[in-house]
Amino acid sequence: MLPNIVLVGFMGSGKSSVGRRLALATGHRFVDTDELIVERCGKPIATIFADEGESRFRDIETEVLTNLVGVCGIILATGGGIVLRPENRDLMRRIGVIAWLDASPDALFERVSRTQKRPLLKSPDPRGTFDRLLAERRPIYEAFTELRIDSTGLSHDESARAVLEGAMRASRRGFGS
Ligand code: S3P
Repeated sequence: MLPNIVLVGFMGSGKSSVGRRLALATGHRFVDTDELIVERCGKPIATIFADEGESRFRDIETEVLTNLVGVCGIILATGGGIVLRPENRDLMRRIGVIAWLDASPDALFERVSRTQKRPLLKSPDPRGTFDRLLAERRPIYEAFTELRIDSTGLSHDESARAVLEGAMRASRRGFGS
């Protein structure tokens, strides 16, 4: 049976779009940690950051992940910073096979620049902030994940296919079960 798949990656890596396609292709249910947080708090992510701060947002991320342990048949898209807490990394390993959606810095920046919804990039120097966060986080994704998909130049459907093939191989090797 296909295990749960947990999509991690930097902002703009396409976790939600690819995740929705994976859910369609597999029959798994699509779940998105950011959407669960918005539902739970009744306000957008940017407002949660503004009202309650990043640290409280991270606490809620951990609570949401904790509630997903033991749930079967899901494709889980996560927020880009969810990997920062070791506790979250342990929880995600318990939820399913982890797939890191990656792309070149320029491709990621181009995608995040299409919307204004990311509070961490609302700064006088969005590219500088973006580069700093990426440099901090890339080593964490690298160390944490056994499956990396470079989505630069791939359509969402192509990325979804690559994730699925990789997740099935990883599951045969015993990850995520
Ligand atoms: C964040 C990424 C966002 C969202 C929040 C914080 C981050 O999700 O969770 O704005 O720390 O990288 P996406 O990765 O879907 O943009």
